[in-house]
Amino acid sequence: MPDGIDRDREAAWALLCEWVNADALRRHCRAVEVAMRAYAGELGEDEDLWGCVGLLHDFDWERHPTLGQHPTDGEPFLAEAGYSDAFRRAVLSHADHSGVPRESSLEHHLFACDELSGFLHACGLVRPTGLDGITPKSVKKKLKDKRFAANVNRDDVRNGAEEIGRSLDDHIAFVAAALLPVSEELGLPTG
Ligand SMILES: [Fe+2]
Ligand SMILES: [Fe+2]
Repeated sequence: MPDGIDRDREAAWALLCEWVNADALRRHCRAVEVAMRAYAGELGEDEDLWGCVGLLHDFDWERHPTLGQHPTDGEPFLAEAGYSDAFRRAVLSHADHSGVPRESSLEHHLFACDELSGFLHACGLVRPTGLDGITPKSVKKKLKDKRFAANVNRDDVRNGAEEIGRSLDDHIAFVAAALLPVSEELGLPTG
């Protein structure tokens, strides 16, 4: 089991707050953390490790806001802070352009949670009750509407579910249920 800073939630949050000022990006990172924790719990994996990887996967985006820089230019800072090779590898692998292929379950789940969390957040924002009562069917309908949350890569959402061996319906329902209890913190309507 990895120890030290990899699983230190307080340290991860402090690093995130040092690097990210925008509420929107902090919320995204928090949403991915929550989804990752939920999957780790379901799979009997290390919840603290998976949560911290989720929380920090985009930590350098404000300072490195291009695909050429993020997350590759952030990685040395994680190394300097003491994060392990496995931790940094997982962060790098969430970006296809980093050239680091996803291999571990942790890496596949990070990829799967990243884009879907963003899309569910967008879906929740336009519903009076937020994520409460949201169905996979309604989310898939929105996925087909190219103008809705146009910045979310639909292929990444679908491929993510496939990478973790789940149906898209299942994945949507699981992540929506994980995010629902933290709706207020994520700035979503709570009905
Ligand atoms: Fe990213
Ligand atoms: Fe992300």
